[in-house]
Amino acid sequence: MRELIDKLYKNHNLEKEEFIYLIENFDKDTSEYLFSLAQTTSQEHFQKEVYIRGLIEFTNYCKNDCYYCGIRRGNKNVSRYRLSKEEILSCCQNGYELGFRTFVLQGGEDPAFTDEIMVDIIKAMREGYPDCAITLSIGEKSYDQYQAYYEAGANRFLLRHETANEEHYKKLHPESLSLENRKECLRNLKKIGYQVGTGFMVGSPYQTPECLAEDLAFIKELSPQMVGIGPFIPHKETPFKDFPAGSMDLTLFLIGMLRLMIPNALIPATTALGTIDPKGREKGILSGSNVLMPNLSPIGVRKKYELYDNKICTGEEAAECNVCLRNRVSSIGYNVVEKRGDFVEI
Ligand code: SAM
Ligand code: FES
Repeated sequence: MRELIDKLYKNHNLEKEEFIYLIENFDKDTSEYLFSLAQTTSQEHFQKEVYIRGLIEFTNYCKNDCYYCGIRRGNKNVSRYRLSKEEILSCCQNGYELGFRTFVLQGGEDPAFTDEIMVDIIKAMREGYPDCAITLSIGEKSYDQYQAYYEAGANRFLLRHETANEEHYKKLHPESLSLENRKECLRNLKKIGYQVGTGFMVGSPYQTPECLAEDLAFIKELSPQMVGIGPFIPHKETPFKDFPAGSMDLTLFLIGMLRLMIPNALIPATTALGTIDPKGREKGILSGSNVLMPNLSPIGVRKKYELYDNKICTGEEAAECNVCLRNRVSSIGYNVVEKRGDFVEI
C-alpha cells in the first residue's frame, strides 16, 4: 500500500483499481504514512497557514428535494428564513472585523433571490469589501446567470458534484436533477473564470468504493481549485434518516489522497467533519486540509440551516467561533491568517 501512496505522491494520480484497493484496504499505518506526505505537501504550498472563509447561510428555502438534505423542499418541519441585503452586509462587516477576507454566500436554491436581487447583493458586497473574495454556493444556474454574478463581482463558486456515478446520483436525488447538468454547471463556471470548488459526501447511502474511485477520477479530470468533502450525516426529517453517518477515518484518508492529487488545492476541513468528531477539523488539517469555513450567519437563524442532525456551532456567535477556531488551529501548530487565500497556479 505504501508503494501505491508513493505512486500517488509522485504522479498525482492512480488507476481506478488502485484507488479502490486503497479505499478498501487502508489501515492505521497506511493512513499515517499518507498524512505525513499530505502535510509535507500542504506545507510546501501554504506553510502552516490556514485560510478562513466566513459562511453566510442566507436562505434555507430550497426548490429541490435531495434525499439527504435537511432543508429539502419536502421537509415541512423547518422554519424557513431569508436574510435581507442589509443583514448579509452586516454579517460581512462583523466578519471583516474578525479578520475574514472571503465571504461565502450559501443557500438553498431559492427562486425568491432573482438574478436582479443576487446581482444587487453581490455588487454591494464587492463595493463594501473590495479587498475580499466573494464565493457563491447557490446551486445549479444557467451559463448566463453565472456570468451575470461573475460580472457583478463574485470570484469563486462551490458546487459539489455529490457523486460522479450516474446510478448513485439517481439514488440520492429525485428525477428533476441530473449528474450531467451538475457537471455542465461546473464546466461553465470554470469557463467563465470562477475559482471552482467541487466535492462529495463520504459514506452517503449506496456509495461504494467504486463510486469513490469515480469521484476521485472526476475531480482529477475537472481539476478544480477547491475540493470540499465531508461525511454524510443523517437528518431526522429526510428519507435517509436511518442510514449511518460516513466514516471519519475514510474522510481523512480521502482528504490526504486529494492533497497528493492536487497539491495546491484549497481543501476545507468541513463543519460536518467537526460534527462527527470533536477534533474532526484539527484532524482534517493534519490530513492535508488548509481551509476552515466558520459560520457568520446571525445566531437566530443558525439552527434553521440544519443540513444534518447535531450540526456544531449553531449556538455560538461568530466572535466565539473565531476565538475557538484560532485556538484549535494553534493547538496543532498551524495558524489562521487574514488573507483572501486565492488559488495559486504552480
Ligand atoms: N444548494 C447549494 C448546492 O446544492 O450546492 C448549496 C447548499 S447545499 C445544502 C451544500 C452541501 O451540503 C451539499 O453540496 C451537500 O454535499 C451538503 N449536505 C447536504 N446534506 C448533507 C448531509 N445530510 N450530510 C452531509 N452533508 C450534507
Ligand atoms: Fe464554533 Fe468552535 S468553531 S464553537
